[in-house]
Amino acid sequence: MREQLAKIREDALSRLAAVRDSGELEELRVRYLGKKGEMTAVLKQMGRLPAEERPDMGKLANEVRAAIEEKLAEAKKRVDAQALELKLRAETVDVTIPGRVPDIGHRHPMYIALDEMKEIFIGMGFTVVDGPEIELAELNFDRLNAEEGHPSRDWSDTFYFDRDSRVMLRSQTSPMQVRAMDTLPLPIRMVAPGRVYRKDEVDATHSPMFHQVEGMVIDRGVTMADLKGTLNTVIRKMYGENTQTRFRPHHFPFTEPSCEVDVQCHKCGGAGCPTCKGEGWIELLGAGMIHPHVLEMAGIDPDVWSGWAFGFGLERTAMRRFKIDDLRLIFENDVRFLEQF
Ligand code: PHE
Repeated sequence: MREQLAKIREDALSRLAAVRDSGELEELRVRYLGKKGEMTAVLKQMGRLPAEERPDMGKLANEVRAAIEEKLAEAKKRVDAQALELKLRAETVDVTIPGRVPDIGHRHPMYIALDEMKEIFIGMGFTVVDGPEIELAELNFDRLNAEEGHPSRDWSDTFYFDRDSRVMLRSQTSPMQVRAMDTLPLPIRMVAPGRVYRKDEVDATHSPMFHQVEGMVIDRGVTMADLKGTLNTVIRKMYGENTQTRFRPHHFPFTEPSCEVDVQCHKCGGAGCPTCKGEGWIELLGAGMIHPHVLEMAGIDPDVWSGWAFGFGLERTAMRRFKIDDLRLIFENDVRFLEQF
């Protein structure tokens, strides 16, 4: 038994001296000091010794155990230090390496055009207001003189939420005229940009979701001449002093008289090309003098107050501004396209 203990000590100490990682270390600890380890196996034989030998043997066993434990602790220190060293080396940060510059991105071209437009209107004393995309048909249609049975209320053109056709995705920003008349004090000068929805198929000039910028002025003695002057000023600020515009008679239920406003085609300068479909002109907006009945429905006396309103197509405005010839590019969000602006 004495020899057994001596052998265990010698083995254990030499193996522990050579240990390289914490896995090996744990293996050795279990092998020598574990419940089923070599020391335990030896101690189990103690009972068979004559009584007078037991104290000596017990003392020896304790010494061997203590020696192994000490060596274990020492080996653990060494292995831990090595592991830390490795970890530090692997995780070194070289502060002299140049950093990676993050891609910051920038405003979308349509919003650049919108911001320019807002700036111009704010400079002319307009306030910018915001309203819901989920709208009551009452405001989108009834209060704008488009009663039951009006063709634009048809299910084939409009996204409704309910069978009774009372709640819908607004098909135009014009209900913002009504909201402004109902909430703002007179006189009013406001613009209201936002999304609108119609059941259109996607092509180079159509999308079921697009943006409009509504505008409205109500004051005493406001005329069509003010409308023309204001719109021409805005369009020339956006597109250049020499930009030609064309006011064409049109019909909207909530304005009378009504017009559509075109701007000369940027591609061909008016000669006619595929971009303007041979017209030489690109339609930008609808406008007109607010119908007296619309004022009356908002409780505004048309004998005292008059006003006008307009609705820009924002995509078209941006396309003309940046010479983009396909509407789909605005929504596809291809970074190669967007980076050009
Ligand atoms: N809301 C109209 C449209 O979507 C445009 C418009 C706005 C016309 C304001 C007149 C006045 O076509």
